[in-house]
Amino acid sequence: MFSACCVAHQEASGPAEHVPVTFIEPSGKTRVVQAECGLSLLEVARIYDIELFGECEGGGNPTTSYGEGPCCRTCHVYVDNDHLKGLPEKDPKEVNETYFIDKANANSRFACELIVNPSFKGMTIVIPSKSTIPGIYGVVTHI
Ligand code: FES
Repeated sequence: MFSACCVAHQEASGPAEHVPVTFIEPSGKTRVVQAECGLSLLEVARIYDIELFGECEGGGNPTTSYGEGPCCRTCHVYVDNDHLKGLPEKDPKEVNETYFIDKANANSRFACELIVNPSFKGMTIVIPSKSTIPGIYGVVTHI
């Protein structure tokens, strides 16, 4: 998914920039991949067949029709401290959805809402196990 702005930028400037990011899967397997700027971390995970769910796909394009999503919480990840402070603040809906995740903490973000840019270079993203997602996988918390 590209926004019209990103597509126009790509056409004007050639191939998209990529930055290295590290995913740590629930199994502990570490994957260093080249993440394309303009894609969400969820989309990057899809490209590299990384064990990250994200069933609602962000509820729509996370940057252009944001009012629809996020809603499934299954793209919950932990972002390393060094990169966390440079990320855009959570939208109120992401804040609300995070509340229902078991083991959410200050590093919790939704991969569908994080659009890769050059500042993501060297980022480490830890993917928790499915059991941290209430309701969908049988673990219910905060109710
Ligand atoms: S993919 Fe559903 S909330 Fe991110």
